[in-house]
Amino acid sequence: MVKRLIFLGPPGAGKGTQAQILAKIYQIPHISTGDILRQAVAEQTSLGQKAKDYMDKGELVPDELILDLIRERLSLADTANGWILDGFPRNVSQAEFLDKLLTELDLTPDCILNLEVPDEVLITRLLERKRGDDNEATIRRRLEVYHRDTVPVIDFYTQKGTLKAVDGNLTLEEVTAGLQKAIAD
Ligand code: AP5
Repeated sequence: MVKRLIFLGPPGAGKGTQAQILAKIYQIPHISTGDILRQAVAEQTSLGQKAKDYMDKGELVPDELILDLIRERLSLADTANGWILDGFPRNVSQAEFLDKLLTELDLTPDCILNLEVPDEVLITRLLERKRGDDNEATIRRRLEVYHRDTVPVIDFYTQKGTLKAVDGNLTLEEVTAGLQKAIAD
């Protein structure tokens, strides 16, 4: 069955972890803008060179670096049975862009899932992980940017009546089960 899923949630909520698990279960691609950008930085492509400073500081990279990339990714053949979008949309202008793009492609998202985890748990998880942008100053900035730019995306989808909240402050297995239940309901 076709599944088009959008994962929202703060840094460290478990979006990437859960998206990987569900992508395997549903046999659909996991499209993470963070992973795409980190790969571009590692390969020192023009996108990576433009994005690196923003990522190191915990700021969002400018929309113009992301929007065409999403348009291209969502038109690849492997998306025929759906996708999981992780890390996009990240602000209201990206959400409006996605709305228009999906209308153009004659697609609708099946489920928009918001993983909820308290800030203090997020900080502990991220400090334990030690990715390049997982130092305390950058984590705090990512959380500020999340509250300023991404929380309005939650309001955007709540107003449309399409958002489902899932408790992300449980064990991995419990969160997977919670997501599967929300997707099936
Ligand atoms: P991105 O890669 O999207 O990072 P993020 O949103 O900060 O998210 P994380 O990867 O930190 O968290 P996650 O929710 O995926 O949690 P995870 O599963 O990894 O973005 C990075 C940067 O790229 C941004 O700052 C920005 O600069 C740029 N960017 C990306 N997309 C953009 C966009 N659309 N527009 C503009 N800029 C963009 O888990 C975290 C840790 O917790 C792991 O160690 C994991 O093992 C652990 N964990 C997960 N679940 C549990 C659990 N249930 N219990 C205990 N531990 C758990």
